[in-house]
Amino acid sequence: MRKILGIETSCDETGISIIQDNQDGTYLLLSHALASQTEIHKEYGGVYPMMAKRAHIENLPLMLKRALEKAGNPKIDAIAVTYGPGLSPCLWTGINFATELSKECDANLIPIDHIEAHILMGLIEHSENTFSLPKEDPFPALAVIVSGGHTQIILMKAIGSYQVIGETVDDAAGEALDKTARILGLEYPGGPAIYREAQLYEGPVYDIELPRPMLHSDNYDLSFSGLKTAVLYDHKKRGEERDSKEYIREMAHEIQSSMFETLTKKTVRASKEHNPKTIILGGGVSANQTLRETLEDGLNELSDPPQLLVTDPEMATDNGIMAAIAGALKKESLPPGSAIEADPNLRLQ
Ligand code: KG4
Ligand code: ZN
Repeated sequence: MRKILGIETSCDETGISIIQDNQDGTYLLLSHALASQTEIHKEYGGVYPMMAKRAHIENLPLMLKRALEKAGNPKIDAIAVTYGPGLSPCLWTGINFATELSKECDANLIPIDHIEAHILMGLIEHSENTFSLPKEDPFPALAVIVSGGHTQIILMKAIGSYQVIGETVDDAAGEALDKTARILGLEYPGGPAIYREAQLYEGPVYDIELPRPMLHSDNYDLSFSGLKTAVLYDHKKRGEERDSKEYIREMAHEIQSSMFETLTKKTVRASKEHNPKTIILGGGVSANQTLRETLEDGLNELSDPPQLLVTDPEMATDNGIMAAIAGALKKESLPPGSAIEADPNLRLQ
């Protein structure tokens, strides 16, 4: 049975994972090693590509050793590596490492689109150490990918057939959460920090109202940079009260409401037009429980709601499993040592 090793280095997580393709539509997770750079980037409130690259160079051999040992040092048949979209120096680091390893192991190479990997992690079901494709045909599906670098609504007719029908015209959802968290003095990454504060919100004191940009626009595009500006203005105009627990919690709650309501409305409208059987929610921001609930409630208002498949929250942020799973589901692979080029602006097609 084929063993696939996945390598993910598109942003600030160094992930290596090994899965076994059981060749019956199920995949066994043999190991999964992840080095997060959150602690490094926390100090700066964001990711610096060259620092991230250096951390990947250090972490990749360690993660490889850990993943191989945990899996019992199996013969690797294929290496799946993210080649875009993402930060160029980080992508190249993963690709160079994968190419060398593919020669050493005499394993084929499978280039992975990071957005497709997020989609497939949402599509595949997960129980204990086994992943399996849905038993019933899930297509057509609408995938809603919300991450630190991307926010897209994608019509999916099959694995490998994608059409982006809406996307952010400026900041990605996760990027907006990271930036607004920083304004509020919360730590990086902002998404989980905002979620924690919003959970503690007990009701309006400041009557904060943030805009819902493009909510009524006649397409499925989204915009989140106005949210950041509105948070900044509100924060500036307040005096000392902006440091109060109540203000931060109310703002965090309102940021989530503004973002998740818009995402839900657009997804529901797209569902009315395209009648998908399935909605797939993925990307780092999909780890957010409030987003999951808001989207589920919105879809339940449809007369015949599609089923909602959400990525396991522990696997929603970047990791090596997603590269390995995407590799297992792809048909094409390249001979050992093939040249792959990083494509920082890669677009699904
Ligand atoms: O998918 P991901 O790990 O990296 C990219 O492909 O960009 O997403 C990272 C983003 C960050 O912006 C982070 O703040 C956000 O996902 N995030 C969350 C949560 N966990 C991570 N946002 C909201 N709620 C969370 N629980
Ligand atoms: Zn990602």
